[in-house]
Amino acid sequence: MSKQVTIESVRTEFRTDSKLVAKNPEKHESLKIKFLGRKGLVAKLFSQLSKVSDKDRPKHGKDLNNLKYEISTFFDKNKKNKAGSSTGPTDSTLPGPKFKIGYEHPLQKTLDDIKNIFKNLGFSIAYGPEVDDDFHNFSALNFPEEHPARDMQDTFFIEKDIVLRTHTSNVQVHLMEEEEPPLRYIVPGRVYRNESISFKSYCLFHQIEGLYVDKNVSFADHKAILEFFVKQMFGSNTKMRFRPSFFPFTEPSAEVDIWSEKSGQWLEILGSGMVDPEVFKSVNIDENIWSGFAFGLGVERICMLKYGIDDIRLLYQGDIRFLEQFK
Ligand code: PHE
Repeated sequence: MSKQVTIESVRTEFRTDSKLVAKNPEKHESLKIKFLGRKGLVAKLFSQLSKVSDKDRPKHGKDLNNLKYEISTFFDKNKKNKAGSSTGPTDSTLPGPKFKIGYEHPLQKTLDDIKNIFKNLGFSIAYGPEVDDDFHNFSALNFPEEHPARDMQDTFFIEKDIVLRTHTSNVQVHLMEEEEPPLRYIVPGRVYRNESISFKSYCLFHQIEGLYVDKNVSFADHKAILEFFVKQMFGSNTKMRFRPSFFPFTEPSAEVDIWSEKSGQWLEILGSGMVDPEVFKSVNIDENIWSGFAFGLGVERICMLKYGIDDIRLLYQGDIRFLEQFK
């Protein structure tokens, strides 16, 4: 049988031991268990309470509670002191902790810059679906049935006739279906192509589509707007050229290249042209009244040119060492 204890003996023992804690803070936990643990001395005193006579029990109980109070306050207070002392005195002259803040992604920066330039020219922003049907992504844009762009190699098919859009030009069709001209929109968004991934191509990228439809819109308007855009984006001394090209939904078509001093070559940043009358026909807009131009900017291309980035994959890896350079 374990040795009997009394309130007095436990109190004396506690008062001796508590001095020990002051000198050896690491004893704190074991002493606390010794007195306050489930099988500790205080619990033992409580279990003996039933053996105390009815007459003495109230006083005895009160004494015991007082002891318990004394012991637990001691350990509570001691714990606080311990935590406080580990921080030490405060030196208010020390620099505060550094907070890691995020940086705007270069792609987001480029997108915002492009959007602002066109907003200042009176363009509104529209969005459209990334999953679309063959009609909006291809047929309405005058892609012949056997056109290679519909080939499995370039297009991610969701189902037969449902694709991940390969360009933002699908939204040209939606806008012209839904609204009467005049139209003046830019459409930022993601596009998807099933290309092998390398430093210059990725399975998804961003485009900003532009669509301007009104009466008497000419090729000169189209040239002027795009020239203005390039000078705003890259500076007024930028060397640029319009190069004749082909798209099924524009006629005539052009691509715009920018001279890259760094790599010593022309780099393509956008495709454009006058809206093909066939496209107007497929959305029931009278091509004898309305004319217009459209363009599609490659946001990654523009971003890479602007910031001298030589691998498109860097834009998608979220590597902090890369991103930190764009503070
Ligand atoms: N959609 C074309 C592409 O992805 C770009 C383009 C848009 C060309 C609008 C002309 C007009 O290559």
